[in-house]
Amino acid sequence: MKIGILTSGGDAPGLNAVIRGIVYTGIATQKCEEFVGFRSGWKGVVDGDLMPLGRHEIKGIHKQGGTILGTSRTNPFDGNGGVDRINQVMRENDIDAIIAIGGEGTLAAAKRLTDAGINIVGVPKTVDNDLSATDYTFGFDTAVQIATDAMDRLRTTGDSHGRCMIAEVMGRHVGWIALHSGMAAGAHAILIPEQKTSVDQIIEWVSSAHDRGRAPLVVVAEGFALDSMDDAHSERGLDAFGRPRLGGIGELLAPIIEDRTGIETRATTLGHIQRGGTPSAYDRVLATRLGMAALDAAIAGDWGHMVALRGTEILTVPFADALGQLKTVPQSRYDEARILFG
Ligand code: F6P
Repeated sequence: MKIGILTSGGDAPGLNAVIRGIVYTGIATQKCEEFVGFRSGWKGVVDGDLMPLGRHEIKGIHKQGGTILGTSRTNPFDGNGGVDRINQVMRENDIDAIIAIGGEGTLAAAKRLTDAGINIVGVPKTVDNDLSATDYTFGFDTAVQIATDAMDRLRTTGDSHGRCMIAEVMGRHVGWIALHSGMAAGAHAILIPEQKTSVDQIIEWVSSAHDRGRAPLVVVAEGFALDSMDDAHSERGLDAFGRPRLGGIGELLAPIIEDRTGIETRATTLGHIQRGGTPSAYDRVLATRLGMAALDAAIAGDWGHMVALRGTEILTVPFADALGQLKTVPQSRYDEARILFG
Protein backbone atom coordinates (compact mmCIF):
# COMPACT_ATOMS: atom_id res chain seq x y z
CA MET A 1 0.00 0.00 0.00
CA LYS A 2 1.19 3.53 -0.76
CA ILE A 3 -0.12 6.24 1.53
CA GLY A 4 -0.19 10.00 0.99
CA ILE A 5 -0.18 12.25 4.05
CA LEU A 6 -1.37 15.83 4.27
CA THR A 7 -1.64 18.51 6.94
CA SER A 8 -4.36 21.09 6.40
CA GLY A 9 -5.87 24.14 8.13
CA GLY A 10 -4.12 26.16 10.82
CA ASP A 11 -0.95 24.48 12.07
CA ALA A 12 -0.61 23.03 15.58
CA PRO A 13 2.43 21.86 17.55
CA GLY A 14 2.61 18.08 17.08
CA LEU A 15 1.82 17.82 13.36
CA ASN A 16 5.34 16.56 12.63
CA ALA A 17 5.09 13.99 15.40
CA VAL A 18 1.93 12.60 13.76
CA ILE A 19 3.71 12.35 10.40
CA ARG A 20 6.65 10.58 12.03
CA GLY A 21 4.33 8.26 13.97
CA ILE A 22 2.60 7.17 10.76
CA VAL A 23 5.74 6.64 8.70
CA TYR A 24 7.85 4.98 11.42
CA THR A 25 5.07 2.60 12.33
CA GLY A 26 4.61 1.58 8.72
CA ILE A 27 8.32 0.99 8.23
CA ALA A 28 9.00 -0.64 11.61
CA THR A 29 6.09 -3.10 11.35
CA GLN A 30 6.59 -3.54 7.60
CA LYS A 31 2.86 -3.01 7.20
CA CYS A 32 3.44 -0.18 4.75
CA GLU A 33 6.75 1.09 3.50
CA GLU A 34 5.83 3.65 0.90
CA PHE A 35 4.70 7.12 1.92
CA VAL A 36 4.51 10.48 0.22
CA GLY A 37 3.59 13.87 1.60
CA PHE A 38 1.26 16.30 -0.17
CA ARG A 39 2.62 19.84 0.13
CA SER A 40 0.33 22.53 1.60
CA GLY A 41 -2.72 20.45 2.49
CA TRP A 42 -5.43 19.73 -0.08
CA LYS A 43 -3.65 22.17 -2.40
CA GLY A 44 -0.85 19.61 -2.81
CA VAL A 45 -3.39 16.92 -3.62
CA VAL A 46 -5.18 18.88 -6.33
CA ASP A 47 -1.88 20.23 -7.72
CA GLY A 48 -0.18 16.82 -7.56
CA ASP A 49 2.60 18.42 -5.51
CA LEU A 50 4.26 15.55 -3.66
CA MET A 51 7.41 14.87 -1.68
CA PRO A 52 8.86 11.54 -0.61
CA LEU A 53 8.47 10.60 3.06
CA GLY A 54 10.97 8.04 4.23
CA ARG A 55 13.14 7.52 7.29
CA HIS A 56 15.44 10.33 6.23
CA GLU A 57 12.68 12.96 5.95
CA ILE A 58 11.07 12.14 9.29
CA LYS A 59 14.22 11.77 11.39
CA GLY A 60 13.82 13.72 14.65
CA ILE A 61 10.92 15.82 13.41
CA HIS A 62 8.65 14.99 16.38
CA LYS A 63 10.42 17.80 18.27
CA GLN A 64 9.81 20.41 15.59
CA GLY A 65 6.89 22.81 15.56
CA GLY A 66 4.93 23.55 12.39
CA THR A 67 4.65 20.96 9.65
CA ILE A 68 7.36 19.83 7.25
CA LEU A 69 4.62 19.40 4.63
CA GLY A 70 3.29 22.93 4.87
CA THR A 71 -0.40 23.65 5.21
CA SER A 72 -3.18 25.71 3.67
CA ARG A 73 -6.89 26.25 4.00
CA THR A 74 -7.53 25.12 0.42
CA ASN A 75 -10.88 23.41 0.01
CA PRO A 76 -10.60 20.62 -2.61
CA PHE A 77 -14.20 21.24 -3.70
CA ASP A 78 -13.92 25.00 -4.10
CA GLY A 79 -13.27 25.17 -7.85
CA ASN A 80 -10.35 22.78 -7.33
CA GLY A 81 -11.62 19.71 -9.15
CA GLY A 82 -12.95 17.80 -6.14
CA VAL A 83 -13.31 14.03 -6.37
CA ASP A 84 -12.33 13.64 -10.03
CA ARG A 85 -9.10 15.60 -9.68
CA ILE A 86 -8.08 13.80 -6.50
CA ASN A 87 -8.81 10.40 -8.02
CA GLN A 88 -6.69 11.37 -11.01
CA VAL A 89 -3.71 12.52 -8.89
CA MET A 90 -3.91 9.40 -6.73
CA ARG A 91 -4.07 7.15 -9.80
CA GLU A 92 -1.17 8.91 -11.53
CA ASN A 93 1.00 8.53 -8.41
CA ASP A 94 -0.18 5.01 -7.44
CA ILE A 95 -1.47 6.28 -4.11
CA ASP A 96 -3.95 3.92 -2.46
CA ALA A 97 -5.03 6.01 0.50
CA ILE A 98 -4.72 9.40 2.19
CA ILE A 99 -4.21 10.18 5.86
CA ALA A 100 -5.56 13.72 6.36
CA ILE A 101 -4.46 15.59 9.47
CA GLY A 102 -6.67 18.58 10.09
CA GLY A 103 -9.55 20.25 11.86
CA GLU A 104 -13.28 20.48 11.23
CA GLY A 105 -12.96 21.90 7.68
CA THR A 106 -10.37 19.32 6.63
CA LEU A 107 -12.32 16.43 8.07
CA ALA A 108 -15.57 17.66 6.45
CA ALA A 109 -13.82 17.62 3.07
CA ALA A 110 -12.38 14.18 3.91
CA LYS A 111 -15.87 12.88 4.66
CA ARG A 112 -17.25 14.10 1.33
CA LEU A 113 -14.32 12.51 -0.49
CA THR A 114 -14.70 9.22 1.40
CA ASP A 115 -18.42 9.17 0.62
CA ALA A 116 -17.37 9.39 -3.04
CA GLY A 117 -15.17 6.31 -2.66
CA ILE A 118 -11.72 7.76 -1.88
CA ASN A 119 -9.79 5.93 0.84
CA ILE A 120 -9.18 8.40 3.66
CA VAL A 121 -8.42 8.17 7.38
CA GLY A 122 -8.42 11.33 9.49
CA VAL A 123 -6.35 12.64 12.38
CA PRO A 124 -8.04 15.46 14.33
CA LYS A 125 -6.08 18.66 14.84
CA THR A 126 -6.94 21.93 16.55
CA VAL A 127 -5.17 23.93 19.23
CA ASP A 128 -8.61 25.15 20.28
CA ASN A 129 -9.47 21.58 21.44
CA ASP A 130 -13.02 21.99 20.14
CA LEU A 131 -13.67 18.64 18.43
CA SER A 132 -16.20 16.69 20.44
CA ALA A 133 -15.17 13.20 19.33
CA THR A 134 -11.78 13.34 21.02
CA ASP A 135 -10.98 14.20 24.63
CA TYR A 136 -7.90 16.23 23.68
CA THR A 137 -6.24 17.30 20.46
CA PHE A 138 -2.47 17.61 20.19
CA GLY A 139 -1.25 21.22 20.22
CA PHE A 140 -3.69 22.23 22.95
CA ASP A 141 -1.34 21.37 25.81
CA THR A 142 1.50 23.31 24.17
CA ALA A 143 -0.72 26.33 23.52
CA VAL A 144 -1.90 26.32 27.14
CA GLN A 145 1.68 26.16 28.41
CA ILE A 146 2.80 29.01 26.15
CA ALA A 147 -0.18 31.12 27.24
CA THR A 148 0.46 30.33 30.91
CA ASP A 149 4.13 31.30 30.63
CA ALA A 150 3.10 34.57 28.97
CA MET A 151 0.57 35.30 31.72
CA ASP A 152 3.13 34.64 34.44
CA ARG A 153 5.24 37.31 32.76
CA LEU A 154 2.32 39.70 32.38
CA ARG A 155 1.63 39.32 36.09
CA THR A 156 5.09 40.40 37.20
CA THR A 157 5.03 43.53 35.04
CA GLY A 158 1.40 44.16 36.03
CA ASP A 159 2.32 43.84 39.71
CA SER A 160 5.22 46.27 39.32
CA HIS A 161 3.02 48.98 37.82
CA GLY A 162 -0.20 48.16 39.65
CA ARG A 163 -1.91 47.74 36.30
CA CYS A 164 -4.75 45.57 35.07
CA MET A 165 -3.36 43.23 32.44
CA ILE A 166 -5.51 41.62 29.75
CA ALA A 167 -4.23 38.52 27.96
CA GLU A 168 -6.06 37.60 24.77
CA VAL A 169 -5.68 33.96 23.74
CA MET A 170 -6.95 31.82 20.84
CA GLY A 171 -10.32 30.12 20.97
CA ARG A 172 -12.66 30.86 18.09
CA HIS A 173 -15.78 29.06 19.30
CA VAL A 174 -14.70 27.65 22.64
CA GLY A 175 -12.74 28.82 25.66
CA TRP A 176 -10.60 25.80 26.53
CA ILE A 177 -7.24 27.58 26.12
CA ALA A 178 -8.51 30.58 28.11
CA LEU A 179 -9.98 28.37 30.84
CA HIS A 180 -6.89 26.21 31.32
CA SER A 181 -4.23 28.90 30.98
CA GLY A 182 -6.31 31.33 33.03
CA MET A 183 -6.71 28.83 35.86
CA ALA A 184 -3.02 27.92 35.70
CA ALA A 185 -2.00 31.59 35.86
CA GLY A 186 -4.48 32.47 38.61
CA ALA A 187 -6.51 34.92 36.50
CA HIS A 188 -9.02 37.18 38.21
CA ALA A 189 -11.47 36.83 35.30
CA ILE A 190 -11.69 34.42 32.38
CA LEU A 191 -13.92 35.43 29.47
CA ILE A 192 -14.89 32.73 26.99
CA PRO A 193 -17.14 32.47 23.92
CA GLU A 194 -19.58 30.16 25.72
CA GLN A 195 -20.33 32.78 28.39
CA LYS A 196 -21.45 36.22 27.25
CA THR A 197 -20.67 38.54 30.16
CA SER A 198 -21.58 42.10 31.06
CA VAL A 199 -19.11 44.95 31.47
CA ASP A 200 -20.48 45.44 35.01
CA GLN A 201 -19.54 41.87 35.94
CA ILE A 202 -16.01 42.26 34.53
CA ILE A 203 -15.58 45.55 36.40
CA GLU A 204 -16.71 43.86 39.61
CA TRP A 205 -14.07 41.11 39.26
CA VAL A 206 -11.31 43.59 38.33
CA SER A 207 -12.19 46.00 41.15
CA SER A 208 -12.42 43.24 43.73
CA ALA A 209 -8.92 41.97 42.85
CA HIS A 210 -7.56 45.52 42.83
CA ASP A 211 -9.15 46.32 46.20
CA ARG A 212 -7.28 43.35 47.68
CA GLY A 213 -4.03 44.88 46.46
CA ARG A 214 -3.69 42.64 43.41
CA ALA A 215 -2.85 43.68 39.86
CA PRO A 216 -5.85 42.15 38.07
CA LEU A 217 -5.26 39.65 35.25
CA VAL A 218 -8.12 39.23 32.79
CA VAL A 219 -7.88 36.37 30.28
CA VAL A 220 -10.10 36.64 27.23
CA ALA A 221 -10.58 34.22 24.35
CA GLU A 222 -10.60 35.80 20.89
CA GLY A 223 -14.16 34.53 20.33
CA PHE A 224 -15.61 36.13 23.48
CA ALA A 225 -18.44 38.64 23.14
CA LEU A 226 -19.88 41.00 25.73
CA ASP A 227 -23.57 40.51 26.41
CA SER A 228 -24.15 43.73 24.45
CA MET A 229 -22.46 42.31 21.31
CA ASP A 230 -24.11 40.07 18.71
CA ASP A 231 -20.90 38.42 17.51
CA ALA A 232 -17.25 38.05 18.41
CA HIS A 233 -15.07 41.08 17.70
CA SER A 234 -13.66 41.02 14.16
CA GLU A 235 -12.24 43.88 12.15
CA ARG A 236 -9.91 42.14 9.73
CA GLY A 237 -12.23 40.60 7.15
CA LEU A 238 -12.67 36.92 6.37
CA ASP A 239 -10.21 34.02 6.16
CA ALA A 240 -9.95 31.51 3.29
CA PHE A 241 -12.83 29.48 4.79
CA GLY A 242 -15.00 32.61 4.84
CA ARG A 243 -14.81 32.85 8.63
CA PRO A 244 -14.32 36.24 10.30
CA ARG A 245 -10.69 36.82 11.31
CA LEU A 246 -10.88 37.25 15.05
CA GLY A 247 -8.60 39.17 17.40
CA GLY A 248 -8.70 42.49 19.19
CA ILE A 249 -11.29 41.92 21.90
CA GLY A 250 -8.58 42.53 24.54
CA GLU A 251 -7.76 45.92 23.03
CA LEU A 252 -11.48 46.72 22.94
CA LEU A 253 -11.92 45.87 26.62
CA ALA A 254 -8.83 47.71 27.91
CA PRO A 255 -10.13 51.32 27.62
CA ILE A 256 -13.54 50.26 28.94
CA ILE A 257 -11.96 48.76 32.07
CA GLU A 258 -9.60 51.72 32.48
CA ASP A 259 -12.42 54.28 32.14
CA ARG A 260 -14.74 52.49 34.52
CA THR A 261 -12.19 51.62 37.23
CA GLY A 262 -9.46 54.23 36.88
CA ILE A 263 -6.93 51.37 36.86
CA GLU A 264 -4.35 51.70 34.13
CA THR A 265 -5.03 48.76 31.79
CA ARG A 266 -2.93 47.12 29.08
CA ALA A 267 -3.88 44.38 26.62
CA THR A 268 -1.60 41.79 25.03
CA THR A 269 -2.74 39.53 22.20
CA LEU A 270 -0.75 36.30 22.18
CA GLY A 271 -1.96 35.28 18.71
CA HIS A 272 0.08 32.81 16.70
CA ILE A 273 2.81 32.59 19.33
CA GLN A 274 0.48 29.98 20.86
CA ARG A 275 0.80 27.78 17.78
CA GLY A 276 4.53 28.16 17.25
CA GLY A 277 7.61 26.43 18.59
CA THR A 278 8.29 22.96 19.91
CA PRO A 279 5.43 20.75 21.09
CA SER A 280 5.21 19.78 24.77
CA ALA A 281 6.09 16.23 25.78
CA TYR A 282 2.38 15.46 26.22
CA ASP A 283 1.60 16.66 22.69
CA ARG A 284 4.51 14.73 21.20
CA VAL A 285 3.28 11.52 22.78
CA LEU A 286 -0.38 12.08 21.90
CA ALA A 287 0.48 13.07 18.32
CA THR A 288 2.78 10.07 17.87
CA ARG A 289 0.12 7.67 19.18
CA LEU A 290 -2.55 9.21 16.94
CA GLY A 291 -0.22 8.81 13.96
CA MET A 292 0.47 5.16 14.83
CA ALA A 293 -3.26 4.48 15.21
CA ALA A 294 -4.04 6.25 11.93
CA LEU A 295 -1.60 3.97 10.13
CA ASP A 296 -3.27 0.93 11.69
CA ALA A 297 -6.68 2.26 10.67
CA ALA A 298 -5.48 2.68 7.09
CA ILE A 299 -4.04 -0.84 7.02
CA ALA A 300 -7.37 -2.14 8.36
CA GLY A 301 -9.23 -0.20 5.65
CA ASP A 302 -11.16 1.88 8.18
CA TRP A 303 -11.98 4.51 5.55
CA GLY A 304 -14.15 7.38 6.68
CA HIS A 305 -12.92 7.14 10.25
CA MET A 306 -10.69 9.36 12.32
CA VAL A 307 -8.58 8.42 15.30
CA ALA A 308 -9.51 9.89 18.66
CA LEU A 309 -8.40 9.94 22.28
CA ARG A 310 -10.92 8.65 24.84
CA GLY A 311 -9.50 8.55 28.32
CA THR A 312 -6.07 7.06 27.72
CA GLU A 313 -7.09 4.89 24.77
CA ILE A 314 -6.87 5.73 21.07
CA LEU A 315 -9.83 4.50 19.06
CA THR A 316 -11.47 5.23 15.71
CA VAL A 317 -14.77 7.03 15.15
CA PRO A 318 -16.69 7.60 11.90
CA PHE A 319 -16.32 11.09 10.41
CA ALA A 320 -20.11 11.38 10.54
CA ASP A 321 -20.08 11.09 14.35
CA ALA A 322 -17.06 13.35 14.76
CA LEU A 323 -18.19 16.36 12.77
CA GLY A 324 -20.61 19.14 13.51
CA GLN A 325 -20.48 18.97 17.27
CA LEU A 326 -18.32 21.48 19.06
CA LYS A 327 -16.80 20.48 22.36
CA THR A 328 -17.68 23.55 24.37
CA VAL A 329 -16.65 24.31 27.95
CA PRO A 330 -19.43 22.84 30.09
CA GLN A 331 -21.23 25.15 32.51
CA SER A 332 -19.89 23.12 35.44
CA ARG A 333 -16.28 23.70 34.39
CA TYR A 334 -16.89 27.44 34.05
CA ASP A 335 -18.71 27.63 37.39
CA GLU A 336 -15.81 25.82 39.03
CA ALA A 337 -13.27 28.31 37.60
CA ARG A 338 -15.52 31.26 38.44
CA ILE A 339 -15.25 30.57 42.17
CA LEU A 340 -11.68 31.86 41.91
CA PHE A 341 -12.50 35.08 39.97
CA GLY A 342 -12.35 38.56 41.51
O1 F6P B 1 -8.78 27.19 14.69
C1 F6P B 1 -7.58 27.42 15.32
C2 F6P B 1 -7.24 28.88 15.30
O2 F6P B 1 -6.02 28.99 15.95
C3 F6P B 1 -8.29 29.81 15.91
O3 F6P B 1 -8.21 29.89 17.30
C4 F6P B 1 -8.00 31.10 15.21
O4 F6P B 1 -9.15 31.91 15.12
C5 F6P B 1 -7.56 30.68 13.86
O5 F6P B 1 -7.07 29.36 13.98
C6 F6P B 1 -6.49 31.58 13.29
O6 F6P B 1 -6.14 31.11 12.03
P1 F6P B 1 -5.08 31.75 11.04
O7 F6P B 1 -3.84 30.96 11.16
O8 F6P B 1 -5.71 31.58 9.70
O9 F6P B 1 -4.88 33.17 11.43
